Amino acid sequence: MELTLKRSSEPLCGSVAVPGDKSLAHRAALFAALAEGESEVCNYPDSGVTRSMRGALESLGVSSSLNGDVLRVNGNGMRPFPCLGATAYCGNSATTIRLLAGALAATRSTAVLDGSEGLRKRPMGRIAEPLGKMGARIESSNGCAPLRIEPAELRCLDYNLPVASAQVLSCLQVAALGAEGESRFTVGAPVRDHTSRMLRAMGAQVEDDGTLVRVKRQDKPLSPLHGTLPGDISSAAFLFAAAAIVPGSTITVQGIGVNHTRTGVLDVLSGMGAEVTLANGREEMGEPVADVTLAAAPLHGVEISGDLVVRSIDEFPAIAAIAAFAEGRTVVRGAKELRYKETDRIAAISAQLRALGAEVEESEDGFAVLGGTLKGGVARANGDHRLAMSMALCGLRAPVSVEGAEILSESFPDFEGVVTSLM
Ligand code: S3P
Repeated sequence: MELTLKRSSEPLCGSVAVPGDKSLAHRAALFAALAEGESEVCNYPDSGVTRSMRGALESLGVSSSLNGDVLRVNGNGMRPFPCLGATAYCGNSATTIRLLAGALAATRSTAVLDGSEGLRKRPMGRIAEPLGKMGARIESSNGCAPLRIEPAELRCLDYNLPVASAQVLSCLQVAALGAEGESRFTVGAPVRDHTSRMLRAMGAQVEDDGTLVRVKRQDKPLSPLHGTLPGDISSAAFLFAAAAIVPGSTITVQGIGVNHTRTGVLDVLSGMGAEVTLANGREEMGEPVADVTLAAAPLHGVEISGDLVVRSIDEFPAIAAIAAFAEGRTVVRGAKELRYKETDRIAAISAQLRALGAEVEESEDGFAVLGGTLKGGVARANGDHRLAMSMALCGLRAPVSVEGAEILSESFPDFEGVVTSLM
């Protein structure tokens, strides 16, 4: 599918909602499977990646139902997954395969985890190695999927994560629920802490001060989950980008998660000159939620590095589109992890912005965009849902079409409809 957004001569305005948070949705489905009893979670998003987690759980013998946006899961507890030896297909979802690997190890299950061609290229040594140190029997294919897991007794682990990855940390936290004693994990940067919050709400003994995470073996059953997922700030980021790009725009996205580990994009937008306001603050499922308004203003380039990179790790495609219309250079450093996402995002963002005529420099751990140089043309999504949306947004100010845009249904199926409703 080729996507061309209408060029916007008028400012965008309006107040909209976005689908529920994907990171939380993955965790809710998986942790509900590990709980004792029935969980019920509202505002559950139905997209490619969330279907991956539910489909994989189904293959392992834990089914769920989705009626409207209400997910129900009948937990299997911390026992081995019912379909012993099954192959669970995780699609394109790295969160699914990595968190599930921890759950299979914790429950002494036997299974194979596999995924799409793209997923098979993503690094799994980062979970297989520490899981192996805990005593798990896990075999990868040269550090990649498919992963084969066999039952084994787990021991606790004291581990310093070499990469600041919430997926790796969460995988190990879940495995630690089934390991003897108390595991301790240290992380060098503020990765998203949804796993700690949700597991704690379910009765797990988890402590997390942002750098040291401690998890004790779970001897009592995990309680089922009941609640409503916050809207996904990572989807909202594309709407904020749209509003930032079109002069004079003001939009509100209602009820999105504003956990500090995820709000880097709001800090980047304020740093570039946009006006960001939070209102109606509340809490859902242990997560802070707010209605967030973005008012456009003349934007200028910024430098993004350090913790801010981790707190906006999924938002660089959106940030790149904004940078293309800001005055001066936006420079991203210390972001090598972007090379291990759905695609090598440093290379892909640079190549696609260049295809639209923008001046971009690529470095080993980042990129720099010179604003005001983008002219238009044809960009390719490269099998990356976020790249599809960010390149499409450039079409609000220049003649742009995006090939392979159907991939955006992985995360935000109604992206075009929601953007159009703001015009
Ligand atoms: C995620 C963590 C991030 C993020 C991904 C979702 C999660 O990956 O990029 O989209 O749900 O834990 P890393 O933790 O590997 O950086």
